Amino acid sequence: MTAIDPAVEAHLEATRAARLESYFEFLRIPSISALPEHGPDMVRAAEWIVGELTRMGFEHAEVSPTPWHPIVYADWLHAPGAPTVLVYCHYDVQPVDPIELWETAPFDPFVKDGRVVGRGAADDKGQLHMHLKAAEALFATRGRLPLNLRIVFEGEEESTSVSLPGWLAANRARLGADVVVISDTGFHEGNLPAITESLRGILYTQIDVAVGPIDLHSGSYGGAVENPANALARIISELKDRDGVVQVPGFYDDVRPLDEATRTRMAALPFDEEAFRSRISAPALAGETGYTVLEREGARPTLDVNGIWGGFQGHGEKTIIPAHAHAKVSMRLVADQDPEVLWPKFRDYVLQVAPPGVTVEVSKLGSGRPSATPVDHPVVRAAASAIEATFGRPPFFRRNGGSIPVAATFEETLGLTVVLMGFANPDSNAHAPNETMVLDNYETGIRTICLLWDRLGANGLGG
Ligand code: BES
Ligand code: MN
Ligand code: MN
Repeated sequence: MTAIDPAVEAHLEATRAARLESYFEFLRIPSISALPEHGPDMVRAAEWIVGELTRMGFEHAEVSPTPWHPIVYADWLHAPGAPTVLVYCHYDVQPVDPIELWETAPFDPFVKDGRVVGRGAADDKGQLHMHLKAAEALFATRGRLPLNLRIVFEGEEESTSVSLPGWLAANRARLGADVVVISDTGFHEGNLPAITESLRGILYTQIDVAVGPIDLHSGSYGGAVENPANALARIISELKDRDGVVQVPGFYDDVRPLDEATRTRMAALPFDEEAFRSRISAPALAGETGYTVLEREGARPTLDVNGIWGGFQGHGEKTIIPAHAHAKVSMRLVADQDPEVLWPKFRDYVLQVAPPGVTVEVSKLGSGRPSATPVDHPVVRAAASAIEATFGRPPFFRRNGGSIPVAATFEETLGLTVVLMGFANPDSNAHAPNETMVLDNYETGIRTICLLWDRLGANGLGG
């Protein structure tokens, strides 16, 4: 099935065990971007990658400082006449809690049932590692790459990429490329090869409600003052109606309606709702009335409470009016919604529906714009053909509900098309306990990358 250069295949075959050990070594670095105590691990992960890039033959490999976590840059630009591809992945991972639900330690990876289990196995250190090993295989067999590559690996993706936009703008002069390839998405349900054609944007907020500096006895004060937890529940209940429609005025103003052709294409994707439901053990699927599950997940905006806390959480009874209550609320956005336009509308609406008698603060924690790839772009066609040649079936094109805020930034800052060629299995448990990467996706995907680089190098952007 594999149509890649036999010498490269032989190298990959011979180095399989060492590759897994190197993958594990990388996963063992707990590069959690959100937690300040892991700052030194972020630097360690970046240095580890730079060591690999330098050893295999990349040039100008550096741990590039930013106001927060470093960005890894490297290039190899000795294929005159061949295209230049900028590869982006992220080396940071999500926190591991609830830790008690992990079968083993999250940063002590192992193989189980043909999958690598560990935080970052799929999102996104595993996919970053695939790019390292694909390039290494090409360097090792030929001493060169078939095309020009620039590497940009960041460490803040899971924390809304605070530093990358500024870094891209500041480094624009040395980032010339024909296209950006991002490997941070996944296959379709059933682990069917897929290319992502759009990602949702995000607006992430926090609501803080308070009545005073300390808790109050709910016997002495209940009925006399507003309760922050009740008030927060009331606010949240106003955000969406029972049909799943977001109630923030103007929320849908810039949503591009789904055209019939898109809906027909989405309906043609293989998708077993019942299998999907039972895979995640939900009692039922739910969402905006009038749209299919795939539309709701990939092509319609939505709003979710990501966390809610306040008041007494312990065992038994404690009769208080909690001094304060809090919620993290995020919205997933689609074209042409703009988080900067929506933010004041959301804030004003929350303040407007809040009951009197409490103080309410609304803050914006992060945001990112939605993005899309023209599916007839030559590099998308070439990627699809490389996937077909290596995985044995053409990829489905699908919209994805997740967000990679920098995808839009690459388009806006560098004017480049972004191709989303990701390899994660859909049941990877990304962000959750027992994250996994199917080893066959990892191994075959490395071949896909090698083949794509070879074809782009030989035939130009059309592969
Ligand atoms: N790799 C994901 C994005 C993704 C998720 C793509 C699902 C396709 C399907 C990325 O690492 C991620 O988790 N992004 C965050 C962004 C947020 C922190 C701003 C997300 O989508 O929640
Ligand atoms: Mn990711
Ligand atoms: Mn993620």
